[in-house]
Amino acid sequence: MRQVVLPVVGTVEAWRAAVRGLAAAGVAPEDVLWSVGEAAADLFAGKAEPGVPVELRLSRVATEGIATAMLHKDPARFWLGHAAVLGVSQGRLRWGDRSDPVIGRLMAMEKTVRRAIHKMHAFVRFRELPEVQAGRRSFGAWFEPEHPVAEATGGFFANRFGDMDWAIATPEVTLIFDGKLRVERTLGRPPQVEDGTEGLWRTYFASIFNPARLNPKAMQSEMPARYWKNMPEADLIPALIRGAPAAVQAMRERTLSEAPPAYRARAQAARDALTVPDAETLPGAAALAAGCTRCALHGPATQVVWGEGPQEARLMIVGEAPGDREDLVGRPFVGPAGQLLDELLAEVGGERSAIYLTNAVKHFGYRPQGKRRLHMRPTRDHIDHCRWWVDIERRLIRPKVILGLGATAAEALTGRGERVTERAGNLERLADGTAFLPSLHPAYVLRLPDMEARAAARARLREDLAAALALVG
Ligand code: URA
Repeated sequence: MRQVVLPVVGTVEAWRAAVRGLAAAGVAPEDVLWSVGEAAADLFAGKAEPGVPVELRLSRVATEGIATAMLHKDPARFWLGHAAVLGVSQGRLRWGDRSDPVIGRLMAMEKTVRRAIHKMHAFVRFRELPEVQAGRRSFGAWFEPEHPVAEATGGFFANRFGDMDWAIATPEVTLIFDGKLRVERTLGRPPQVEDGTEGLWRTYFASIFNPARLNPKAMQSEMPARYWKNMPEADLIPALIRGAPAAVQAMRERTLSEAPPAYRARAQAARDALTVPDAETLPGAAALAAGCTRCALHGPATQVVWGEGPQEARLMIVGEAPGDREDLVGRPFVGPAGQLLDELLAEVGGERSAIYLTNAVKHFGYRPQGKRRLHMRPTRDHIDHCRWWVDIERRLIRPKVILGLGATAAEALTGRGERVTERAGNLERLADGTAFLPSLHPAYVLRLPDMEARAAARARLREDLAAALALVG
């Protein structure tokens, strides 16, 4: 068994040198007893059977990772590191393989050490020392890192505070900077010195503390309580936490009462613009319907096609549902069926602009076929959901007569959509007394293949239009 005693200052460098020597001598990790001791060691105090030398071949990442892990306080780190160096060099182990017990443990140590280094960078607090040498101010700090990482932080502090003299004492080593960095073994804790920088830290911390974002758990994981005892601002923390709810309330009140007037005016204007449309007016109902999701048709359709015409219209014409063209344009009866309707209206002396034109269902329902969208007749479910809007239109317009085009309109208005070809032209009464004239749908007329049948259907629709106009007078 060999015993290797590493120095307190320069531990990691000494360990690396020792591992190189042990590898060259072919000494196995289990034959080495490591310790960190008083003096720079007699590296090979004991004897062990020499074995086959190992040529060290490690990637930079593995070298750095293992060296960082050597800053952990776990006493097993040195032999684990030795085993990893040999195993990786011989290709038996792979740095990065967390499933291997040796590598996995070292990688976890590396992570912990990096965190400890980060904490030391963040939480060292200097106090100004009374004796000033050669015009340079000097500062001292006492810090207790969770792992013996102090040496690894020297470069950071030398860079950051290169314009002053300072010393950072930790339980193991002290970093001293007077233009040049050196590391010495700590011989005892330096006496506490109070100075103005304490107040500075306290003021800084109290002002960056945001009570509205208080999360004591996260705060403690960022600034673990073990570091508090050497931080001048730490004694503020419990009081700040206790006072957080009241401070948040005060912040809220300040925000409300001290907001600049221009902002308040803008905020008020934005609130005023957020008026809910009034369903008791036609434009308001149209605005509400524009966001309708009462049935599944709203998904694929481009938009709601709301009714069109004057609120005082005496005749209301109700069709089935918007077609492809209406869906794109956003107006009812602007496609082929609408053209026939316009034609017939002109023939019987009707004015489209005096009539309220709408549909029983307000969204276009279709089945895609290649680039085409094939019209699908609305289902009873679509009709039932959309009756909500038709009823609002009826209530607001109060037409004297409603002309229903096709079975869907008849179903929406009377609850019965059957036998429209038989019912067409026969006046009915709706529950509220409104005259209802069922008729044929212009699209039905256009689709009839037989010329004679089409002419007859066209004539019936024309007659019904004329009758409806006559009824409203
Ligand atoms: N068919 C209808 O029923 N309504 C329209 O708006 C267009 C075609």
